[in-house]
Amino acid sequence: MSTESNAPADALVFFGATGDLAYKKIFPSLQAMIKHGHLDVPVIGVAKAGWSLEQFQARAKDSVEKHGGLDEAAFQKLLGLLRYVDGDYADAATFQALRKELGSAKRPAHYLAIPPVLFGSVVEQLAAADCTADARVVIEKPFGHDLASAQALNAILLKTFDESHIFRIDHYLGKGPVHSMLHFRFANALFEPFWNRNHVESVQVTMAEDFGIQGRGVFYDATGTTRDVVQNHLFQLLANIAMEAPVRTDSESIRDEKAKVLKATRTLGVDDIVRGQFTGYQQEPGVKAGSTTETFSAVRLFVDSPRWQDVPFFIRAGKCLPVTCTEVLIRLRHAPSIYASRCPVPNHVRLRISPDVTIALGMNTLLPEDESISVPTEMTASHHPGADEMDAYQRVLGDAMRGDATLFAREDYVEEAWRIVDPALKANTPIYAYAPGTWGPAEQAALAPPAGWHNPDLASS
Ligand code: BG6
Repeated sequence: MSTESNAPADALVFFGATGDLAYKKIFPSLQAMIKHGHLDVPVIGVAKAGWSLEQFQARAKDSVEKHGGLDEAAFQKLLGLLRYVDGDYADAATFQALRKELGSAKRPAHYLAIPPVLFGSVVEQLAAADCTADARVVIEKPFGHDLASAQALNAILLKTFDESHIFRIDHYLGKGPVHSMLHFRFANALFEPFWNRNHVESVQVTMAEDFGIQGRGVFYDATGTTRDVVQNHLFQLLANIAMEAPVRTDSESIRDEKAKVLKATRTLGVDDIVRGQFTGYQQEPGVKAGSTTETFSAVRLFVDSPRWQDVPFFIRAGKCLPVTCTEVLIRLRHAPSIYASRCPVPNHVRLRISPDVTIALGMNTLLPEDESISVPTEMTASHHPGADEMDAYQRVLGDAMRGDATLFAREDYVEEAWRIVDPALKANTPIYAYAPGTWGPAEQAALAPPAGWHNPDLASS
């Protein structure tokens, strides 16, 4: 039964409506939500661009055409739902105009796709204009810049919104293979017996991108890879891999288990991180001369839980690497038998998140032509996501509108994530150069997993 706090939102307000994120992700997701019957309430864009509603609608059209394609029926419906408020976020009149557009809506979801420095004043203005009673707030990452700023931001939000009405977006959680990891782990009896320190030697998570910072110099230079994708997206993968089975499937039971993983994770030491910067980064527009911001980050983590004690977890992410691919590799220990001494590599489980979705079990088999030779072989199940599958933003926006917080980062989780990375980032560890198109700086060897780094290979699905 819906209560006031979990009843579906009756309007979606999005700040930053003329920005890049809206153009690349939000309009296409709104169209898809309409197509699947998941959106039927006014959608009010707010921005300071001096635009009319017609210009805003034209931007929406351009956006869907360029990102996924226009669906005539769904787009016409979207046009009917779109409203636009133009104005400065510091000006009370903007919020009075918004209040007017909201009309009889009682439970709007305010989505802040704007720079974090503006969150505080926008929330205060929303409250002053009577737009926050029974409303939700949906916040884009990064949530703060470090532990102290995340706590300060939480304090601002909590003055106006209850924690149950705050939805901190991490779009990685909306990706099909990420949110289905829990089903993969806990709906199959196959994995649980070896999913622990007795059998797992190490875990690696790699998020490689073959492109650079794509004109986001100002944002990226103030952020760096660890804050951009490790502390949030890739820690979510870590939590999914390392968590215990939730006792119930409600949002808080699941988020309790995820928060426990981070609580059990040791704070990074300066020897647990290797940072790199691709050659040419400093010439990118918006990047400061002499910048020491990383475009590559490799970290080693330990989760001090009974299940994972002493098993190293490695996370690597970087721009301008050879491929675009996110993959998890769980390496098992060698089998305790004389047969295993002939095997070059131990078994593994490989989970590819993107570009395709793959589950692969790596094992040793004998070469049919020469049975004295053992070769590593993979048994794979692979799937290429189709155009009709829900994309990450579609899923998280739909969930925020419905009031389901499962796929959003809770306050305690976010603060633990900052606690883990903060001291090592503030220590300003060395920054090593690497050539674009390579797997990052040679210095990452100092941190390598026992059997070496695993570089995802797109030739193997
Ligand atoms: C964003 C980061 O959160 O995630 C980007 O800011 C990164 O730097 C992007 O490229 C990756 O997300 P996806 O869904 O494109 O793999």
